[in-house]
Amino acid sequence: MKQFISVDDVPSVPRLVDIALDYKKQPFKDKQLGEHKTLGMIFLNPSLRTRLSTQVAAKNLGMEAVVFNIDKEGWQLEMNDGAIMNGSTSEHVKEAAAVMGQYFDIMAIRTFPGLKDKEADYTEKYINQFIKYAGVPVVSLESATLHPLQSLTDVITIKERWNQPRKPKVVMTWAPHVKALPQAVPNSFAQWMNGWGEVDFVITHPEGYELDPKFSGSAQIEYNQDKALEGADFVYVKNWSSYNDYGKITCTDPSWMVDNAKLRGTNDAKIMHCLPVRRNVVIADEVLDGPNSIVIPEAGNRVWAAQAVLSEILKNK
Ligand code: CP
Repeated sequence: MKQFISVDDVPSVPRLVDIALDYKKQPFKDKQLGEHKTLGMIFLNPSLRTRLSTQVAAKNLGMEAVVFNIDKEGWQLEMNDGAIMNGSTSEHVKEAAAVMGQYFDIMAIRTFPGLKDKEADYTEKYINQFIKYAGVPVVSLESATLHPLQSLTDVITIKERWNQPRKPKVVMTWAPHVKALPQAVPNSFAQWMNGWGEVDFVITHPEGYELDPKFSGSAQIEYNQDKALEGADFVYVKNWSSYNDYGKITCTDPSWMVDNAKLRGTNDAKIMHCLPVRRNVVIADEVLDGPNSIVIPEAGNRVWAAQAVLSEILKNK
C-alpha cells in the first residue's frame, strides 16, 4: 500500500482485516519491520483514540512516533497555492510538508472540515496538499470527509463477532447532537461497508441528512428508524451535520437517541460508536453500560487497524 486515505487505497479489505486480527493475536511478531523508521503524526485537531492507538501500533512495529500538534505548536499554515502571504499565515504547506517529509518515513495527518465551504471540504484540500508536497506516504488520521482507520477498525470489530453463514444486518443510525459534526465517520463507514460487501447495510436518518451518494452508494436508506432497526445484528450510532444544507443542524428530535426501547426489535444487536460519545444525547447510559455495547473493544481494535496499515506501507517502502 502506498498511502491510506480511503478504502480505495486498499487492494483487499478482507486481507487487511486478517492482517489486523493476526496482530491482535501476536502484536510483536513484526517488531523489526519499523526499526530505524519514524512516523510523523501531525494534528490540526484534537484526538484521544487515533493518536494513542497509532502511537502504540507504531511502537509494536519498532517504529518511533513523533507527535506534532501543528495547530497549537507550529507556524500558521497557508494551504492555497499562489497565495500572497501578507495575512496571518506564516508558512506555506509547500515548505512545511516537504520539510517534515525530510524527517519522517511516513506522515499521518488529522484535519477536520470547516463545515462552511462544501467544495473546499469535499475536495480534501488540506490532506491533498500534504500528499502533494510531503514526498513520503501519507496516512489519514481523519480528514475532512473520511476516517478510514476508524472504518477499518469497525470492519474488524464486526468480522470478529460474526460467524454465521448469512450476512449480518448492519444499521447505521443518525442520532442527535448539540454541535454540528463532520460527515467523515458516516461517509467512511458507508464506504467501507459497501467496499467490504459482506453485510446487509441500512442507513437511517431524518430527511435532510442524506450523505453524499458517492459514499452511501448501494446502502438501503430508511427514514423510519424503528423499521430500519428491525432485525439488526449491529447498530452503528453516529451524529452528523447535513450534507445538503451543508454543515447545518436541521433536526434536534431527541427521539432519535438510541436507548433500550429503540433496540427491542433488533436481533439482540451489538452497539457500536466511534467515540467520543455524548451520553444521554446520542446514546442512553442504559445502552452504553449494558451488555450489548461493544464500544470499548471497538476502540481497542484501533491499535490493530493502525498496525496493519503501517505494516503494509512499511513493506512497500
Ligand atoms: N474515534 C476517534 O477518532 O477518536 P479520537 O477523535 O479521540 O481520535
